[in-house]
Amino acid sequence: MIDLIHDLEGYQAEYQRSVEDPEGFWAGVATGFHWQKPWDRVLNWNFEEPSVRWFEGGLTNLCYNAVDRHALRDGDRVALIWEPNSPNDAPRQWTYRELQEAVARTAGMLQAMGVQAGDRVCLYMPMIPELLWSVLACARLGAVHSVVFGGFSARSLADRVADAGAAVVVCSEKIRRGPRDLPCRAVVEEALDLLEAEQDHPVRKVLVQGSLDPSKPLRSFSNIQSWDWDRLWDQTTARPQPRWMDAEDPLFILYTSGSTGKPKGVLHSTGGYMVYTAYSFAQVFRTAPGDVFWCTADIGWITGHSYLAYGPLLQGATVVMFEGIPTYPDPSRFWKICERHRVSHFYTAPTAIRALMVHGDAPVQSADLSSLRVLGSVGEPINEEAWQWYHRVVGGERCPVTDTWWQTETGGILIGALAGVSPLKPTYAGRPLPGVQPVLLDPQGRELEPTDPPSEQEGLLAMRFPWPSILRSTWGDHERCRTTYFSPFPGYYFTGDGARRDADGMFRIIGRVDDVINVSGHRLGTAEIENALNRHPRVVESAVVGYDHPIKGQGIYAYVILRSGLQDLDADSENQLIHELSETVVREIGAIARPDRIQLVEGLPKTRSGKIMRRFLRKIASGDTSQMGDTTTLLDPSILDAIWAGRKG
Ligand code: PRX
Repeated sequence: MIDLIHDLEGYQAEYQRSVEDPEGFWAGVATGFHWQKPWDRVLNWNFEEPSVRWFEGGLTNLCYNAVDRHALRDGDRVALIWEPNSPNDAPRQWTYRELQEAVARTAGMLQAMGVQAGDRVCLYMPMIPELLWSVLACARLGAVHSVVFGGFSARSLADRVADAGAAVVVCSEKIRRGPRDLPCRAVVEEALDLLEAEQDHPVRKVLVQGSLDPSKPLRSFSNIQSWDWDRLWDQTTARPQPRWMDAEDPLFILYTSGSTGKPKGVLHSTGGYMVYTAYSFAQVFRTAPGDVFWCTADIGWITGHSYLAYGPLLQGATVVMFEGIPTYPDPSRFWKICERHRVSHFYTAPTAIRALMVHGDAPVQSADLSSLRVLGSVGEPINEEAWQWYHRVVGGERCPVTDTWWQTETGGILIGALAGVSPLKPTYAGRPLPGVQPVLLDPQGRELEPTDPPSEQEGLLAMRFPWPSILRSTWGDHERCRTTYFSPFPGYYFTGDGARRDADGMFRIIGRVDDVINVSGHRLGTAEIENALNRHPRVVESAVVGYDHPIKGQGIYAYVILRSGLQDLDADSENQLIHELSETVVREIGAIARPDRIQLVEGLPKTRSGKIMRRFLRKIASGDTSQMGDTTTLLDPSILDAIWAGRKG
């Protein structure tokens, strides 16, 4: 198992070792897992192609290491506690032995549907145990899962399914979310309609969980077979053994937004992801047997992949999975769940903390939170006020708050405090984990050397050495992986974030320096939202920017030019149109991308060459026109006054 670092000197020594002898260091960590065949070579890499290969030639299986290994050794330990959406429904739990049975049976179902190693399986499901089983069942068979968050629209789902070439889609009848049920199967049907109308699509089989009418689980489509989860579950007698996979075989694809319109399928591979998620989970959260770890993220995001599913299970932890939302039936729900399951480690996003903070301390105090020992934050910068409230009110000033910085592409936490070991500095994520070598670059790609005496520096955050769970590619388009992450600054992995490093070497993440915005911890590309708006027949052009939002971190501000201009538009028709535009974005992407503000404009601030100057739009969106800066490069600077005059907010 993984040897935990005990104190700061221990951290420094381990960090040093990881830099001086990365191969020896990671080989040492990797020996804590079961390998059916040991690797021939620990690391083989270059950032030019890029090509990164960890544990080459090794054979292993992630499901075996996360589930079977514990089932064999300590099968009665609780692996999973599931808390349903409604507090009136009873929670359920599974020991590692029971989890093994459920996962192997799910693998048997997928196998019966023809799923084989290397096939892509798209999972579009709510936060129910069947989703976790399906993820692990894919890993068991060597199939590549592509989980699509249940909040994405039919259009987004269709695009992801087509891009991944997924022949099998697993979905549920519905998604229970707070007081409402949202459709799930119906969204899949709509996605299939879109796919059938447009192209030669890959989908051949759909498995529907929780069907209301098992005799007719899915509308009929040509060339698509539909299967019913419950019926297949009852019929399945096979319990496939884990298939030994090469360390570099693909494990999963997860789509994420970038600066261009089309989301990318970030590809992670088996061995390195296994080693790094387990290592980072162990060192950052430091759970012991009997502890209860709750990560509130949906499995549809990387946080759910790495720290609800794989990392904690690899370490044999007990995880909580919650189907619902923090405010249902009231804002004490999270805390009541902590009390009910004696949660010791709680990991959530600043947006949730800020949303709950609005309700004051009483909901928190209504629950017994004495079991809590470690608090974590992820997904976006945490502001000082939220950090302090989390620490004081939720953590009773006794729980360290670890602010963890990482990305879909990094697979695991790269910068963050080791709870109870590292010093804490609110709003600073802290120091890199062992094996992680961050640098700050200037815009020309030169490393900012630490000064003497040390002082705070700010630059672009990049990594100069691979860690085991670095992305391997973007699915179906390796060149895109190179141009997005590796060619901006040759020799480095570029994160897209700006950061500050203080005199003690602690990092504070400032935020994205590209056209990616972070709304309630959800990553969205402004171009993606613009493309959605532009699909409305009355739109000629649009420009989307983020602005500071007290709860969501960033809000979405859209400027839209209409084909017909703004004359003859009365207030009612303007409101109606804004509503339609908003609905268009929801239909194209999903509710997470709904613009907070939409302003109809006559024109956009453009340079003579036609480039939209977004920095002016960001300033107007944030209500700040102080120091607009040099506007002389604009074709028509007066447009700024007109936009300012019609500003929303
Ligand atoms: O800007 C950073 C922000 O979220 C981006 C990555 O988003 P995603 O791939 O969706 O993964 C989120 C969960 C790991 C980063 O480029 N981000 C993530 N964690 C933090 C953060 N910003 C500040 N502080 C963090 N702790």
